[in-house]
Amino acid sequence: MIKKNAYWFCPKCGFKESIWNKYYWRCPRCGNPLDIEYEKIFEPRGNRFLRYSSYYPFKPIKTRGEGGTPLIIDNDGRHKLLYKLEYLNPSGSFKDRGTLLSITYAYLMNYKSVVEDTSGNTGISVALYSRVYGLEATIVMPSYAPSGKKKLVKILGGKIIETPTRTDASKIVLQYVKNSYYVAHIWNYLYIIGASTISFEIFEEYGVPDYIVIPVGSGGLFLGIVHGFEYLKNIGVINKVPVPIAVQGYSVQPLYEKIYGVKKPGEESDLADGILVASPPRINDLVYYLKKYRGKIVLVGNSDIREAQKELFQKGFMVEPTSATVYAAYTKIKEELPPSDIVLVLTGSGLKTLN
Ligand SMILES: Cc1ncc(COP(=O)(O)O)c(C=O)c1O
Ligand SMILES: [Zn+2]
Repeated sequence: MIKKNAYWFCPKCGFKESIWNKYYWRCPRCGNPLDIEYEKIFEPRGNRFLRYSSYYPFKPIKTRGEGGTPLIIDNDGRHKLLYKLEYLNPSGSFKDRGTLLSITYAYLMNYKSVVEDTSGNTGISVALYSRVYGLEATIVMPSYAPSGKKKLVKILGGKIIETPTRTDASKIVLQYVKNSYYVAHIWNYLYIIGASTISFEIFEEYGVPDYIVIPVGSGGLFLGIVHGFEYLKNIGVINKVPVPIAVQGYSVQPLYEKIYGVKKPGEESDLADGILVASPPRINDLVYYLKKYRGKIVLVGNSDIREAQKELFQKGFMVEPTSATVYAAYTKIKEELPPSDIVLVLTGSGLKTLN
């Protein structure tokens, strides 16, 4: 099932073209991130990620059990905590939701190979779905990415190119883009659509929480979740959007800087390798939605992350440091919040980061 009337759309310059005509990882006219315009329908049917197929521009063909992740409820004094176990997705992170859509699209567009620059999780996810769909994957990664993540990419048949920094990876990947599908997950709207299903699952299983705590790198996860709840509100299924709490590390805090005009001093946060994104392409959208829903931004450092990851392991949640940032942020602000239902999105598996 594909929706014929689906268009790349640039909100900045108005560029518009059918997604079935050609793939653009960003606006060919002005370089802005592109949205996809098409008819979204909310008719949940079936299980897991395919349950929301009517919401996508096309239906995935081959799946490996994405989505339908558990929501574990735990009382923590005044607050009710809801842990959304996104690290239980097939490749160990929430990225699988967007990657499934992205690689299905590459397959439908007859690409034979894909390239991607990533700090880790997207690489594993892209390698996995490329294998499933029979495409060749080349992943450009900074050499400091956890060795467990690099090994997984290789085992899945992905070719790795190592670079000194994450920024170098973004530059070097462009050399490979010519004949391959460039996933460009930090730009690609399909990742935002994929992440919205997290909100649909929370709504269907629980309802609408008061707060939702989200780690922000490129912000695809954040925007997907907020769009998901906002869409349900717009179609009249729910009457409020949870207050989003964005989490970044002190080392790389573009969202904080954009809002307050200065950097907040604090210790290094390089343990959270998944959210070290210096220039998120959709930063203006992130600021807009954070303000629209009266959200907060919380910054954390390595010692907060270490402590949070230890506590999460003790509770039985085996997550990676980037995911532990949400628990670290919650710990920092829980006294300020009125008694609430709070979702903590646990994004990535700790099994990949153990050496
Ligand atoms: C484990 C983990 N959590 C959170 C994020 C942040 O996601 P986004 O880039 O969509 O903001 C990432 C991104 O790589 C990640 O790997
Ligand atoms: Zn444009």
